[in-house]
Amino acid sequence: MSLRTFVRSRKLTGALAVTSVAALSVAGVVASTATANAAPGCRVAYQITNQWQGGFGANVTVTNLGDAISGGWTLEWDFAAGQTVQQGWSGTFSQSGSRVTVRNPSWAGNLGTGASVTPGFNGSWNGSNPVPTSFRLNGTVCTGSVDTTTTTTSTTTSTTTSTTTSTTTTTTSNNPGGPKVDNPYVGAGVYVNPQWSRLAAAESGGSRIANQPTAVWLDRISAIAGNSSPTTGSMGLAAHLDEAEKQRAARSDGQLVFQFVVYNLPGRDCAALASNGELGATEIGRYKTEYIDKIASIVSDSKYSKLRIVPIIEIDSLPNLVTNVSPRATAVANCDTMKANGNYVEGVSYAVGKLGAISNVYNYLDSGHHGWIGWGDTVPEYDNFYASAKMMASILGKNGATKDKVHGFATNTANYSALEEPYWTVDDLVGGRPVKENAKWVDWNDFNGELGFATAMRAELVKQGFDSSIGMLIDTSRNGWGGPNRPTAKSTATTADAYVNESRIDRRYQKGNWCNQSGAGLGERPKAAPKTGIDAYVWIKPPGESDGAASEIPNDEGKGFDRMCDPTYGGNIRNGNNPSGALANAPLSGHWFSAQFQELMRNAYPAL
Ligand code: GLC
Repeated sequence: MSLRTFVRSRKLTGALAVTSVAALSVAGVVASTATANAAPGCRVAYQITNQWQGGFGANVTVTNLGDAISGGWTLEWDFAAGQTVQQGWSGTFSQSGSRVTVRNPSWAGNLGTGASVTPGFNGSWNGSNPVPTSFRLNGTVCTGSVDTTTTTTSTTTSTTTSTTTSTTTTTTSNNPGGPKVDNPYVGAGVYVNPQWSRLAAAESGGSRIANQPTAVWLDRISAIAGNSSPTTGSMGLAAHLDEAEKQRAARSDGQLVFQFVVYNLPGRDCAALASNGELGATEIGRYKTEYIDKIASIVSDSKYSKLRIVPIIEIDSLPNLVTNVSPRATAVANCDTMKANGNYVEGVSYAVGKLGAISNVYNYLDSGHHGWIGWGDTVPEYDNFYASAKMMASILGKNGATKDKVHGFATNTANYSALEEPYWTVDDLVGGRPVKENAKWVDWNDFNGELGFATAMRAELVKQGFDSSIGMLIDTSRNGWGGPNRPTAKSTATTADAYVNESRIDRRYQKGNWCNQSGAGLGERPKAAPKTGIDAYVWIKPPGESDGAASEIPNDEGKGFDRMCDPTYGGNIRNGNNPSGALANAPLSGHWFSAQFQELMRNAYPAL
């Protein structure tokens, strides 16, 4: 895994608005419905037949309990939560504000006493989808005995029951095989990987964090069945899911998120060497059949249908096709190859389509971090931000990757970018100019941390076509920056560089540094819904697992030696030719690195 920054020094930048994000609801639960009304005029049964993130389908059966109608009927109701009708059938639908009007189809204008019609529609919702409470037929309010319709346990099937006396509302917060909750982390525990937990607990002081949830990385085909890797070895995906189901069943809320990382693209980690993988640039066929299909067939087992399964999909892949390709100075030949052959886009869309088709799977795609993608510009050569969002949207429509199959995005995965800088902003003035323009650390980046970046990226992804209800995850496993070198106040220095360097908590030489960073600490503990638009702080990178070897180590994992992991390296264009800042003596990426684990605990912020 690696993250490449794009370095630029220029005096012109396109301002990037940090758009605020509308509150996301945590409801997201499907609504079973219950409504209806009746005589003397009419009775309505409004049934949500299925519901998914942002969308739903419904049938509305209206029965005429009054005099026979001839010459046309009109049914009306109001939506209470901003829902909209997208497409209707068995009636002509129109909507003005919250008011929906359905008129009879031209061939069916008569409605005898006791006769029914059932127009239906697909609609969209955001936040919640309450059932309308009042209907009118030809201007007469439908009142009277209650006809109840209860929906829905599945995206593909539904059950309907009718009674004449009561209204039933069924609310399920985890709906196996059915509609998803808005934020899977709310009201749920998160899987604790026993393998990581054992390694952490074996470290002196490690028991303080050994019960934290971390993601399971499927970093090669053999990890699906289980292999002999020193960190991820032995338990395969099914074994993890069996254990997750046990953890779920033991909880009083009965809800558990299982997080795993899908990380095995052909030509993986094209801009670096430390996490090159097993599949060559053209091996997309093997990626699909030997990797994604295998994962999907295990995950879709009904034994696991009560889990909320969260794949974090392909770290670093798509943004590399923006920032590290020709004609940019930062181009790397392998990234040019992966852009030209289309296999990143093909693989990511395939993973999204295939996994997203499983009803209890919540896909999150990797979307980089602010120290890499945080430059937005109208000049293509300087724009990482908008172009990355567009690149991600380019998967939509391919291989079954539709927007309802993307639940959200993850930022900062395995990186070290702070959530926010507490003592300064990029707009602070030093010498009369904002430090954004004249401090090397910022170098015109529009952001100062992951919270601002994730919030703005979320808004941009929605603009590019993703659903307005997407949520963000932020990997806070190693972005704490506590310990003795953490500043405690804003600097009083009068030059921009000194001001920023003395004020910032992120102690890296440069934001493009990504390998085993010296001075880093554990960040915020995993937490659901910490801020608006952020579904959770998560520990995707398991603390203690190396980012890459500090020197060449022969191996059969396909991993190369990247000098960004060598503490003696003076850097390259992608980190502004700064020292790598890497810890010495690191083992291969993914292998246990005790010295780093100890340092992360020492520098934890919040402290342990
Ligand atoms: C790196 C490694 C991978 C490992 C992961 C989590 O990206 O390349 O093998 O599973 O980190 O530690």
